[in-house]
Amino acid sequence: MSISLIVLAAGMGTRMNSDTPKVLHEVAGAPLVVHAMKAGEALDPERIVVVTGNGAERVEKAVKDWNPDTSVALQAEQLGTGHAVLQAREALDGFEGDVFVLYGDTPFITTETLEKMLWARRTHDVVVLGFDVFDPTVRYGRLKTEGDDLKAIVEFKDATDEQRAITLCNSGVLCADAVTLFGLLDKVGNDNASGEYYLTDVVGLAREDGLNATVVRCPEEETLGVNTRAELARAEVMFQTAMRTEAMENGVTMHAPETVIFAHDTVIGRDAIIEANVVFGPRVTIESGARIRAFSHLEGCHVSRGAMVGPFARLRPGAELNEDTHIGNFVEIKNAVIDEGAKVNHLSYIGDASIGRRTNVGAGTITCNYDGVFKHKTVIGADAFIGSDTMLVAPVTVGNRAMTATGTVVTKDIPDDAMAIGRTRQENKAGFASKLFDMLLAKKAKQTKGA
Ligand code: UD1
Ligand code: CA
Repeated sequence: MSISLIVLAAGMGTRMNSDTPKVLHEVAGAPLVVHAMKAGEALDPERIVVVTGNGAERVEKAVKDWNPDTSVALQAEQLGTGHAVLQAREALDGFEGDVFVLYGDTPFITTETLEKMLWARRTHDVVVLGFDVFDPTVRYGRLKTEGDDLKAIVEFKDATDEQRAITLCNSGVLCADAVTLFGLLDKVGNDNASGEYYLTDVVGLAREDGLNATVVRCPEEETLGVNTRAELARAEVMFQTAMRTEAMENGVTMHAPETVIFAHDTVIGRDAIIEANVVFGPRVTIESGARIRAFSHLEGCHVSRGAMVGPFARLRPGAELNEDTHIGNFVEIKNAVIDEGAKVNHLSYIGDASIGRRTNVGAGTITCNYDGVFKHKTVIGADAFIGSDTMLVAPVTVGNRAMTATGTVVTKDIPDDAMAIGRTRQENKAGFASKLFDMLLAKKAKQTKGA
């Protein structure tokens, strides 16, 4: 059976105290709304509709950057969660199947939990995700149940003290057949403590129509919503902890796991070693047996088997390290392929380049890739030797087994097997140094006497 997702992301998020819409604040390098989408995307939905409102254009861009097939529905005025879901009706026109309602500010719902809800849908018309909280003052909606049956959802604001004592709370996530859901929502009014159209009213209305409803439970952590910067920080910690645990379970060694920062999509192979204080930005893959040494920063790059990176290395988007490469301290690599066994070990910038097999790049080498307007490419062949402090003024090509002398500014292509020397010749002036020293020391002595 096909499913679709409706992700509610119109809310203001006042308590974030931010110019950025709440759902665009990031955990592990991805906006909250993307986290919310990811769990549902694993179920291979036919359509995804994100309901936007506050900061609609920015939210639309972010969700489409993540998944171009997403559609957005604008909720011009935030009249409640029920009203928000109704805005997705047009985008789901003709869709037959189940819809999940998810919240853009609730990033941790797992795919397994959604699967449990789908399972419960076999026997119930409406399935709501709930969790237990043993605190009568939390402001969640309360789930009124009788055995497996969900009777109604009562919003905290509208609840009696007796209802507030119910420990089973509403996460907001709900699953029902699309046509049924929209039919029920047509009947939802706003005669309640908030004057809002509550999505939660569909449960009571379903029962009036002779339909049934039930609750699937999940741990409270999964339903953690983000409303404040403090909750955002807590969400980050929870997510990082989970990523580190998962990496170690997958056979990754970390010397100080609590200092390693992952992105939501970091992939690390078995027997890789990640030393302390390594930061992963989005889109990084590390193959088995690679070693990332302390204080390195990686984003948008791929590191192959046996490669060694850092300490203090920076791999930027498009860095592709093939097997057994070495990238050492204070080296920055951007949009460049480093072929098998090549080494760039000290203080270098390699951008918009390709470096052939086993080539050695000496300390302080710079690819001068930018002329102020355009970027240009540097191509270096295999088994080449780039002397220390070589400036490669791109576009330029260095042949196989070619060499550059230390300090050379390479402005012309170097053929295979050739050596380029581009620097002024050194001259030694006999006795000049000691004469100069004598002169300077005499001057100093005179000054000291005068003072
Ligand atoms: C909602 C539930 C409550 C549940 C709680 C869990 C209702 C009526 N109540 O309450 O039972 O315990 O979530 O966190 O559904 N949104 C829109 N448009 C709107 C209103 C909300 O897009 O007009 C979005 C918000 O951006 C947010 C989500 O829906 O992502 C939830 O809205 P919020 O106002 O936070 O609902 P609660 O009052 O917390
Ligand atoms: Ca809320």
